[in-house]
Amino acid sequence: MKKVYGFMVAGILFFGSVVMAYAIHEIIPSETQVAMPGPNAGQLNEYIVRFDPYRAWELWPKKGKLYKGTEPHGSLLTTFVNNTAMHSIKKKKMMADGSIIVKENYTADKKFVALTVMYKIKGYNPNAGDWFWAKYDPDGKAVASGKVDACINCHSKKKDNDYIFTGEAMKK
Ligand code: HEC
Repeated sequence: MKKVYGFMVAGILFFGSVVMAYAIHEIIPSETQVAMPGPNAGQLNEYIVRFDPYRAWELWPKKGKLYKGTEPHGSLLTTFVNNTAMHSIKKKKMMADGSIIVKENYTADKKFVALTVMYKIKGYNPNAGDWFWAKYDPDGKAVASGKVDACINCHSKKKDNDYIFTGEAMKK
């Protein structure tokens, strides 16, 4: 009898955990449930602020908050990557379609001055890695967006690394 009781408890616990796992999976918003933004600075901003808040994303691996940056981005940087980008980073692959990199730029005295974003959209700009570029002021107003020459020209130094300066080399 004791044994049967034990099995029943184990069964209930197992069933409970399956239900819980399913419920959690339903609650956590994943990038697949919200439509990805188009090549549009306003849509992109709404997505990274409201639908899939970038501050809840992981930081670029091995880069803490407020690491040392270079011109033109600012003295201190904090870089967040969405799940899609993180997956590519871990596999050391070119960034997959839907990857978003959001970088907060700060002055030396930790004043937040701008947000710079790279968002990969398949077929958007095949001549330059299909990146949509955007720069926002601290209020979220876009000051540059799209196929921004200044961004592309400088980041082209890293053309063979999917236009990315940070982190290890990526392969096709
Ligand atoms: C003069 C060169 C230069 C220009 C112009 C430039 N960047 Fe960068 N960018 C860098 C460097 C260098 C890094 C690596 C971080 C650092 O050292 O500041 C970087 C990093 C980044 C990153 C993090 C991913 C990565 O490549 O490491 C993003 C996102 C980014 N830049 C967006 C932009 C956007 C958007 C623009 C245009 C508005 C822009 N950048 C213009 C040089 C540049």
